[in-house]
Amino acid sequence: MTWEELENSCKSCDKCPLGKTKTNTVFGVGNKNASLMFVGEAPGESEDKSGIPFVGRAGKLFDKYLLALGIDRNEVYIANILKCRPPNNRDPLPEEQDMCMSYLREQVRLIKPKMIVCLGRISAMKLIKPDFKITKEHGIFFKKGAFEIVAVYHPSLLLRDPSKREEMFTDMKVIKQKLEGMKNGN
Ligand code: URA
Repeated sequence: MTWEELENSCKSCDKCPLGKTKTNTVFGVGNKNASLMFVGEAPGESEDKSGIPFVGRAGKLFDKYLLALGIDRNEVYIANILKCRPPNNRDPLPEEQDMCMSYLREQVRLIKPKMIVCLGRISAMKLIKPDFKITKEHGIFFKKGAFEIVAVYHPSLLLRDPSKREEMFTDMKVIKQKLEGMKNGN
């Protein structure tokens, strides 16, 4: 499948009822040859309005981490498990995640990133393991096929609990170092 076919099929998806209540599909943005891919949970209100992931309050905080680490938003690829907003920002249902995963799988197949960073618990439980414990296991790398996968706190959680921001900064620094090592063949 090409990018165009994938994006078109995602935008006209009617596999679950969220396609009817969304304003815009939030397919994903960024570099289609990125080494680093971030995967969040689901679009919120600002993302639903704009069609772009992580542009609301949580997204602005996430951007600050990227900026602090010298990671250009245009260099990476940013997507979510769900491409359509769940009403009232409720957690994505397991069946919605299952139905939407084919789009993310195909995005990963096309991008072939070296590293995937799960933003938050929902993404980590879907992409790393169902019993993932974000408080204990954030910042730990797991090898999955051709790429490394790691989870960090969701930026929305950091808005609610600023005491976790230092740990997030540490995780993000380690992620950057590890990625640079991988690019240099280590
Ligand atoms: N939270 C997410 O998980 N994804 C977004 O795109 C925005 C907020």
